Amino acid sequence: MSIKTILITGANGEIGHGLIEQLSEQGGMHIVAMDMVPLDETVRLRCHRVVTGDILDSHLLETLSTEHNFDAIYHLAALLSTRAERQPTLAHRVNVDGSLNLLEIAVTQSRLQGREIKFIYPSSIAVYGLPDIATKQKAGKVREDQWLTPRTMYGINKLYTEQLGKYYANYYRQLDAEPPKGQIDFRGVRFPGLISAATLPTGGTSDYAPEMLHMAAKKKPYACFVREDTCIPFMAMPDAISALLNLQSAPLEKLSRMIYNVGAFNPSAAEVFRIIQKAFPKSDVTFEADYRRQAIIDSWPADVDDSASRTDWNWKPKYDLERAFEDYLIPAVRERYAIKGQ
Ligand code: SER
Repeated sequence: MSIKTILITGANGEIGHGLIEQLSEQGGMHIVAMDMVPLDETVRLRCHRVVTGDILDSHLLETLSTEHNFDAIYHLAALLSTRAERQPTLAHRVNVDGSLNLLEIAVTQSRLQGREIKFIYPSSIAVYGLPDIATKQKAGKVREDQWLTPRTMYGINKLYTEQLGKYYANYYRQLDAEPPKGQIDFRGVRFPGLISAATLPTGGTSDYAPEMLHMAAKKKPYACFVREDTCIPFMAMPDAISALLNLQSAPLEKLSRMIYNVGAFNPSAAEVFRIIQKAFPKSDVTFEADYRRQAIIDSWPADVDDSASRTDWNWKPKYDLERAFEDYLIPAVRERYAIKGQ
C-alpha cells in the first residue's frame, strides 16, 4: 500500500486536534501539519512533519509544495466569527486570501502530479443569515441553498471560499486554449457549533456551549453571553471528524453537490445548561446576553436540513444531545480536569 501524504492547515485548532488523532490511528499516511503556532506536543508526535508558518506566506506554501506530493488538503485554518468581527481585514486576509493560496497550491500539485487533488473544507452555518427571530423560527431546517445572506465577516468569507472552491473545481482558467480538467476535487461541509472535550474554541460565537461545559467541569462560574432560549445546531467533535473523513472517502459519482449541511442536535442554551447541571450540580451559570453576539447567533438557523449528506454519503451522527454529553463530553471533561487537578 502506498503511503498517502496529507496537508492539514490550522492543525493546532480544535478540528485539527481531532482530525490528526483520527488519521494517525488509521495509519498509512504522512501528515504534514501546518499552523501559525507551534503544535501541541500530543499532536506533534502524530505528524510526519510540522511546519510553523502562515498560510498567507505563499513562498512558504510553494516551497512545501516542491517538497511533498499531497494526495489531499484539509484546509482548516480560519479566524472564527467573533474574532473576525473584531479584526475584519485580518479575517478577510486569512479566511479568503489564505484559502486562495491553498487552492493555488492544490492546482500546482495537480499539475505536478498529473492527477486530481482532494480539497476538504470545513464551512459553517455562519454562511446563513436570517433577518430576525420570527423568520428563524418559521424557517426550521434550512437547506443548503436558502438564506445565504450572512451578516458576519466570517460567514461571508466562508460562503465566498465555498464559491472559490467550486470555481477551482469547475471553471479554473476556463478561457485557456486547453482549460485544465479535473484538477481539484473540492468537498465542503457546513458545520454547526462544535463541542469538544479535549479543547476549547477561540473566538467563535457558538463558544457558549463548550465554555459552559468546560467551566462547569473546572468548577468555575460562567456568564453565558446568549439568552436561554437561543437555539442553533451543535455537534460533538468525534462526529465532526467522521463527517470530514466520510465525505473525503465518498465516491465522487455519489456526490450531488460540493457543499453539504451536517446536523446532529439543536438544543437551546437552557437545555445545554440543564444537561450540564445534571452532571455538575454545583455549576454556576448565569445568562447575561451580549446583544451584539446574540444578534449574530440569532441570524444563524435553529436547525439544518442535512438530507443530501444522509442520502449521498450516508451521513449519520453517532451522538444525539444526550449521548454527546453523557457518553462523550461529561466523562471526558471530568477526566481531563481531574487529572490536571483544576
Ligand atoms: N463555531 C463557529 C463560530 O462560532 C461557527 O462556525 O464562529
